[in-house]
Amino acid sequence: MSEHHVYRLLYRSVLRRIDPERAHHWAFGLIRLAARVPGLASAVRARYAPAHPTLAVHALGMHLPGPFGLAAGFDKNAVGTRGAAMLGFDFVEIGTVTGQPQPGNPGPRLFRLTEDRALVNRMGFNNDGSAAVAERLAALGSRRPALGVNIGKTKAVPETGAVDDYVTSTERLAAHADYLVVNVSSPNTPGLRDLQATRHLRPLLVAVREAADRAVPDRRVPLLVKIAPDLADEDLDQIADLAVELGLDGIIATNTTIAREGLRTDQDTVAALGPGGLSGAPLKERSLAVLRRLYARVGDRITLVGVGGIETADDAWDRVLAGATLIQGYSGFIYAGPGWTRALHRGLARRLAASPYTTLADAVGADVRSPRP
Ligand code: FNR
Repeated sequence: MSEHHVYRLLYRSVLRRIDPERAHHWAFGLIRLAARVPGLASAVRARYAPAHPTLAVHALGMHLPGPFGLAAGFDKNAVGTRGAAMLGFDFVEIGTVTGQPQPGNPGPRLFRLTEDRALVNRMGFNNDGSAAVAERLAALGSRRPALGVNIGKTKAVPETGAVDDYVTSTERLAAHADYLVVNVSSPNTPGLRDLQATRHLRPLLVAVREAADRAVPDRRVPLLVKIAPDLADEDLDQIADLAVELGLDGIIATNTTIAREGLRTDQDTVAALGPGGLSGAPLKERSLAVLRRLYARVGDRITLVGVGGIETADDAWDRVLAGATLIQGYSGFIYAGPGWTRALHRGLARRLAASPYTTLADAVGADVRSPRP
């Protein structure tokens, strides 16, 4: 029996019966524990993170063994970055971290839609706050994988104080980040997504850029924005143009959706869960379309990160061809288990070898530049 089958059995018999947040807590605890045992950590890493030299990527100032990152939200407080690397993720995005510590929404706030291979969450940025997370990152020093830091607004801070809240977190965290992400796309902090309107986004990104440069004068920390899949196409174009104008380094597309269309899980069950962001397989099509539209607009001027509903190596390859230099996932990992990154790496290396391209970088955006018939 392969590990994939073992995980599926474990998922069906145990994990799906446990409250999802508690299952996450336990599984993450185990991963962190394993990462602390030197012999075990290297054995796990050898198993789950074999090298595929053709997948090496140079992006956002990072030299990575491959393009796959663990998406934001899994390790909100930077307590398990080494565990994520041990399991084969090429980089980790921690956060969302807010200016002040906050507990997030009352539970239950994380739900599985197993039939749809999807999750719904309304965590609401539960995190230790940027001061504590900065201390933790400082203590990690160089013993850490490539790492992005995703920042968002403290719930209790009014919209008029949003820029200051992001700036405070930037000042504390920029020095510890390989790249910084301004998250304006979580559906679970009231008003947050309004910051995607360019009249709000422009001053926010300018202020965060300046704060990062002040805090880290000797290095230009790459700055990205993470956007929602629910934006209209015209809004996407405006954000893409703004990103080019401001010299932003990247766009992460996409966060979770507030849409609930096309689900297998029956409507009443879905409605009973209440509000939150939907992730996983049902997000695939829209996230891919958003990425493709962005690439058509910005081309190679900005690094695009594809995330949302990626499950297989084919999904990952589609994102690369649609314009993604980097790829991230979260829900796919919950459903596939620890062999996930290995399957994606192996499959992607195979797709690349069978393609006309030598490196992943050559393949980025190929479908948009000259669409497949
Ligand atoms: C998330 N996601 C997320 N994104 C973000 O920018 N900040 C965050 O704090 C979180 N938190 C979070 C919690 C949970 C439980 C989930 C499932 C997701 C969104 C995540 O990074 C990603 O953009 C989406 O989940 C889409 O990718 P997948 O899950 O379909 O691979």
